[in-house]
Order: sequence, then C-alpha cells, then structure tokens
Amino acid sequence: MSQKEYNPYENMLAVLKQSAEKLGLDPDDYATLCYPERELKVSIPIKMDDGKVKVFEGYRVQHSSARGPCKGGIRFHQDANMDEVKALAAWMSFKCAVVNIPYGGAKGGIKVDPSKLSRDELIRLTRRYTTRILPIIGPDKDIPAPDVNTNGEVMAWIMDTYSMFQGHCVPGVVTGKPVEIGGSVGRVEATGRGVTIITYECLKVNDMDASSVAIAIQGMGNVGGTAADIFYNNGQKVVAVSDYTGGVYCEEGLPINEIRAFLAGGNTLNDYQNDKVTHITNDELITCKCDVLIPAALENQITADNAEAIQAKIIVEAANGPTTVEADEILNKKNVIVCPDILSNAGGVVVSYFEWVQNIQSLTWDLEEVNRTLNKIMLTAFNEVAELSKEKEVPMRMAAYMVAIKRITTAGKLRGGPISLG
Ligand SMILES: NC(=O)c1ccc[n+]([C@@H]2O[C@H](COP(=O)([O-])OP(=O)(O)OC[C@H]3O[C@@H](n4cnc5c(N)ncnc54)[C@H](O)[C@@H]3O)[C@@H](O)[C@H]2O)c1
Repeated sequence: MSQKEYNPYENMLAVLKQSAEKLGLDPDDYATLCYPERELKVSIPIKMDDGKVKVFEGYRVQHSSARGPCKGGIRFHQDANMDEVKALAAWMSFKCAVVNIPYGGAKGGIKVDPSKLSRDELIRLTRRYTTRILPIIGPDKDIPAPDVNTNGEVMAWIMDTYSMFQGHCVPGVVTGKPVEIGGSVGRVEATGRGVTIITYECLKVNDMDASSVAIAIQGMGNVGGTAADIFYNNGQKVVAVSDYTGGVYCEEGLPINEIRAFLAGGNTLNDYQNDKVTHITNDELITCKCDVLIPAALENQITADNAEAIQAKIIVEAANGPTTVEADEILNKKNVIVCPDILSNAGGVVVSYFEWVQNIQSLTWDLEEVNRTLNKIMLTAFNEVAELSKEKEVPMRMAAYMVAIKRITTAGKLRGGPISLG
C-alpha cells in the first residue's frame, strides 16, 4: 500500500473520533487530541567515516502531556516520516492512558537505514540528534526509549549526551537503558511477560482452561520468544512458532526450550530439524489449529485475506498494528476476542515507567517487585477494558480506546480545558 493510500495519522484520527463518539463526547472535548502538542523536525549533520558530511532528518513529536510527561520510543528507519511519528506519538498517549501510568505520548525517529552506518557513525548521529531535541526532552518533560532499530546502547549514548549538557548524570531522561547504568531489571522481558498476563486473564474470564489450550506465536524475537518461554515453563502447550524464515508446528506442543537454544545459536527456524514438527509458512501459522493466536512480529499480518480462516478463539496482539481494519470486522463477526495492541503489549512501557520511578527516586527495585507490580497494572487494565467492552457491547479494541480517551480528556478538563489560558 502506498503512502498516499494509507496515512497512519488519518487512521489514528478516525479511531479517535469513533471512540469519542461512542463515549458521547462533544468534538470540543477531544479537539486537542487531534493535534500533537509539539512537532519538532531537525536536521542532523554528521561527519561520515570517509570524511564527507551527510545531513539526516530527525523528528520528535509530543502528542499529549495532559496526564504527565510525554513518553515514547525513538526509531531509526529509512521510512521514518512525520506522519508516522505523529500517529505513533498519539498511540503512545492512548497506551499509557489505558494502563493508567502517569504519562502522555511521544515518539521520535531518524530517517536512516542504520545497517548502512558504522558504529562510530551511529554514535555521532545519536549524539547530534540528542543535542537537536535536547530543549524538549528531560525526565520531567519527555522521556525517550528504544524502538525499531534502537536499543539499550543507543539509550546510553542519549543519556550520556543529555547528562554532558546538564553537567551531571541524569539517568531518568531515557528508559530501556542497560541495568548497569540505571536500567530496570525485568525491562527486557516486560512486553512478553505482559502479553502472557493478558492471555491468562483473557482465558480465565472466558472460562477457558489454560492447561488445555493450544497457543500459536508468530515471531520469536524479544516479545514472542519471552512469551513462548513463559508459557512453556508454566506447562502450556505452544503448538506453533515462527520467525521471518517460516514456522514449525506440532499438535502435542513444541519443545520451546530446545527451539530457543537453537535460535540463540544464530540459527533460523527453517533449519530446525525435529521429526515431530511440521514446517509451515507464516500464513499457515496465522490460520493453524489453535485456541490462542499471538502475532508478535510485524504490522498487517492478519488481513481480509486470512481472517476468515483463523481458527483461534482469542488473539492477543503483541505486535503493534498486526490486524487490519477489514480483518478486525471479519474477526468481530466470527466472535473472535481480540485483545488490542495498546493493551496487550503495554508491559514494556509499564516497566519503563518503573525504571523512571527508580531513577528519579535514586533507588532500585528487585525483580519480584517489578513483576508483581507489572502483573497488578496489566490485570487492572485488562479488567477495566473487558468490563467496558461488556457494558457497552463493543469489541475490546474499541473499549480500550474509550478507556484511554476518557482518561486523557478528563485530565484535560480537570486542568482547566484547552482554552483556560485564553
Ligand atoms: N520489544 C518491545 O518491548 C515491544 C513493545 C511493544 C511492542 N512491540 C512490538 O512487538 C513486535 C515484535 O517486537 P520484538 O521486540 O520482539 O522484535 P524482534 O526484532 O526482537 O523480533 C521480531 C521477530 O519477528 C520475526 N519476523 C520478522 N519478519 C517477519 C515476517 N515477515 N514474518 C514472520 N516473522 C517475522 C523475526 O524473525 C523475529 O523473530 C513489533 O511489532 C514491535 O513493535 C515490541
């Protein structure tokens, strides 16, 4: 689909409007949310290793700070653009609101293919980008985190650059840092763990016995791999998993420990050999015989082309945007329960919040405290969304947006409304 046909920001506005109307809000109540509070576009000149100067384009967008400082990742991608970053910033506002952590939403990015840059070039790019966005970030203003093609190391460079300009160490300016410099234990696994918490609760409220369900997971990276480990170690039957090379299926349940060790060795699933497993394509995984389907790879995986054939009764969206609007309608008609991405994959931002709390209080939590508090927040959020879904007879996705938009608009009103300074 071309950029012209699909504008993520227009898509976000459509969802916002639909949810606000369901809530009975007046357009004046949510007008503020239709525009980001701040959009910053920067040019980032760096000296390349060959001595030439190259200028990259970067962005930081703050969608809403009604409920607290803005929060959201920074991605390095050749297709990054302002409309995408604007939409992702708004989705962060909704994600933080649905799990009720005191943040607004933001997102940032640099239009760059990081695989084409050396490590030294990447360091220079990250540091110069940080100085360009420095006036609008900070522990009380806007706290970046890793996203596509950025990681703990990149966060460490951002923290170091920001701290140099402040003249002292400011760990709370970013989250997702290495534990050695103020990162939180449990942050790396948090999104996958959150996905399993939502899955177990969804099974429970729908009277499905976790010990007998079959689970299929698309994507064996950080999120899918962690979720698979947790399910397997708890004795659940994971019948299918995949990576970008394809998947494997076994009706009796896969040896996840063996598969994870195989992948950790730098291998891919197409090379995995075991007499008990059948090799399948990623599309076959989506429609395979299972009770719970967890897309944990990319966006746009469940589409109008495969939604009708899906056999799962529950879908837990671990990836961002794995289901198209058309597929969503088909799934609703089939009474498939879809736990939406803004709820299901919020575990990462929740533990980012814990990291920031630890940083600004200069203390550390242990893993038990991190996981216990994550569990509590995810369960509360799930049940609030599930109850509203039941009460208003709307799908879980709509209910999640309604919860989020109500919280953000209420915060805005309590602060005096958008025109209170006028
Ligand atoms: N990591 C987080 O904290 C986090 C938080 C929220 C949302 N998410 C979302 O979860 C998804 C996965 O993130 P991750 O951190 O696990 O990424 P990752 O890069 O660690 O893993 C991605 C996995 O998807 C597989 N994959 C890639 N292309 C594929 C394809 N065409 N078909 C099938 N599988 C394919 C890869 O082989 C890999 O196993 C993304 O949509 C991401 O935006 C991640």
